[in-house]
Amino acid sequence: MLLAIETSCDETASAVLNESGEVLSNIILSQQDIHSKYGGIVPEIASRRHLECIVPVVQSALEGARVNLKDISLIALTVEPGLIGALLIGATFAKGLAHATGAKIIPVNHLEGHLFSPFINSPPVFPFIGLIVSGGHTSLYLVRGPGNYELLGRTRDDAAGEAIDKVGRLFGIPYPAGPEVDRRTRNIKGSNLNFPIPMKDDESFDFSFSGLKTSVLNKIKRGLLENYPEDEILFSFQEAVIQSLLLKTSRCQKKFGVKRVVVSGGVAANSRLRQVFGEWGGENGVEVIFPPKELCTDNAVMIGMAGLMKWREGKYLDEVKVSSRSTML
Ligand code: KG4
Ligand code: ZN
Repeated sequence: MLLAIETSCDETASAVLNESGEVLSNIILSQQDIHSKYGGIVPEIASRRHLECIVPVVQSALEGARVNLKDISLIALTVEPGLIGALLIGATFAKGLAHATGAKIIPVNHLEGHLFSPFINSPPVFPFIGLIVSGGHTSLYLVRGPGNYELLGRTRDDAAGEAIDKVGRLFGIPYPAGPEVDRRTRNIKGSNLNFPIPMKDDESFDFSFSGLKTSVLNKIKRGLLENYPEDEILFSFQEAVIQSLLLKTSRCQKKFGVKRVVVSGGVAANSRLRQVFGEWGGENGVEVIFPPKELCTDNAVMIGMAGLMKWREGKYLDEVKVSSRSTML
């Protein structure tokens, strides 16, 4: 049995998977209500909350799966990237558990978890272009196999989710604004309010969302958007974000001639993004693969899946070294 632990950001999460990858439990304790008062994540508060929650969350995962600690032989653990204090809580706990039970720790990169989150019921087929689009990351990878990743592009400033959260905040939507922006824009079919698509004329596969965010803010300040309903402004902003994501992803797909694209991370839960990418895939003969919506945002199942894959490849290590930066990928 494998126990997965994820504490890199503002979710304390744990899951149990058996050796064939079947998910036996999936517990996520979000801290969003605590951080929303501050408009974003406060790292020190996140660490303290992980410390309070880690034992009950892991206990719930074990109970949910109807297994005992002695049944656990593998622990998949997020070791990077993330908030260093938050990662340390998970790592210290996992090390203690491994010491007490003799279980082996498989260190997992959080982004690796997102990349493989769609493959819960079917094994991944390589190669694929992986777009990770979340609150902390917006990156494109060429994934040739487990552990074989080439970074093609990344955001130069804000992550897409971060920009959505910040623009949502201008409209009084509490952190994280993504799900509410999604809900408020779902029934809008179009708008003549066209924000420029960020990085459209840039040849690299990089993204940039901070200029778009500032342009929305400036236009509001100068009263230029007074005639537009709030939801329509949100829709147009979201559209510019999605078109930028699609533009760079489609350029990568063409350049490498890869027929499969995986889109994962919190923003991949967005209905409009799923629709736009899905339609593009259909028109271009590209298979676009999303995780189920509930596995887009942070969870421990994806960490367990990535851990299992490394274990099967014989790529697990005993040394656990946490890092706020992504060093493995
Ligand atoms: O992957 P995730 O849970 O955490 C990180 O690793 O960053 O992603 C969280 C981000 C937040 O910015 C949140 O607003 C965004 O994902 N998000 C969404 C939706 N659900 C979550 N953005 C747009 N539409 C959604 N439905
Ligand atoms: Zn994440």
